Amino acid sequence: MASQLFNLNKQKDIKPPVSFLTNEMKPFNNKEITPSDIEVIKESEFIELRDFIYGKCGIFFTDSKKYLLEGRIKKRLVVNSLMTFREYLNLIKSPGSNQEINTLMDIVTINETYFFRAEQQYDAVESKILPELIESKGSSKQFINIWSAASSSGEEAYSLAMIINEKIRPKYPNLNIRIIGSDINREVLETARNGIYGEYAIRHTPKEYLKKYFTFINGKYHLSEEIKKMVKFIQLNLFDEKAVKSMNFIDMIFCANVLIYFDIASKEKVVSLLYDSLNKGGYLFIGCSESLHGICSNQKNLKS
Ligand SMILES: C[S@@+](CC[C@H](N)C(=O)[O-])C[C@H]1O[C@@H](n2cnc3c(N)ncnc32)[C@H](O)[C@@H]1O
Repeated sequence: MASQLFNLNKQKDIKPPVSFLTNEMKPFNNKEITPSDIEVIKESEFIELRDFIYGKCGIFFTDSKKYLLEGRIKKRLVVNSLMTFREYLNLIKSPGSNQEINTLMDIVTINETYFFRAEQQYDAVESKILPELIESKGSSKQFINIWSAASSSGEEAYSLAMIINEKIRPKYPNLNIRIIGSDINREVLETARNGIYGEYAIRHTPKEYLKKYFTFINGKYHLSEEIKKMVKFIQLNLFDEKAVKSMNFIDMIFCANVLIYFDIASKEKVVSLLYDSLNKGGYLFIGCSESLHGICSNQKNLKS
């Protein structure tokens, strides 16, 4: 699908790590490597790579996705002047390879999103869930904490911020609200922080919001500072237990359209961690076409 941003075209912006190859291992005459110089991925290398990716971020590449994965990672071999996938595996498994692993995560994630994607959920948040949460906190001035846990380029978190600003804040002027957006992918987080979007992202945005909160400059929609400053974005891997555990006392977690990339075991792990981050009576939102079927959560009373 054209709208699925695989970030493959952005490789040129990423600085290659210092090559760990010795001179003998480098291609003769320091000739630039092209994709056609690279050896076809071996079955054992594919399995090792997919297990590595699965272990890092829970995304599982099935056998039918072998060529997709090979094509994406080939570009990293070119950037790193490597001719075999074995060398690339050595690189990512070597000490100090964090930067390359981050880049690998940027490549394997799918970042499809747009403003006002989950309209029905947002309606429920506006009309029922948020008013109830606010009332339940009473006059204690406690913060309402909202976490967009796979935020991609920020559209989900910013949609909520606009709704809150427009519909909730006028009724509760003293409202204390905190919105965090997080993702594993550094590139989409950069876009989120910049708050500049194309046509695709805004196509379902109600006209009144578009008019009030965006400025159209040189073919792009620039989100207002008023909304941008309502959301803080951080890099966070949902499989990093320590990082997820540091996110606590959350009232609403949006973890939409990411669990579909995980297998049951990974889903179970992430959902259980997210559950622990929720306040009592808090809400977990998943994507409208996702399900928690098969996940042992009956004792946890999740609202999906
Ligand atoms: C398809 S987007 C969904 C964006 C938004 N939640 C929505 O529903 O429109 C999925 C996002 O999950 C992120 N992601 C994938 N694996 C992740 C992980 N292990 N930890 C954190 N984010 C992850 C991807 O980088 C991507 O931006």
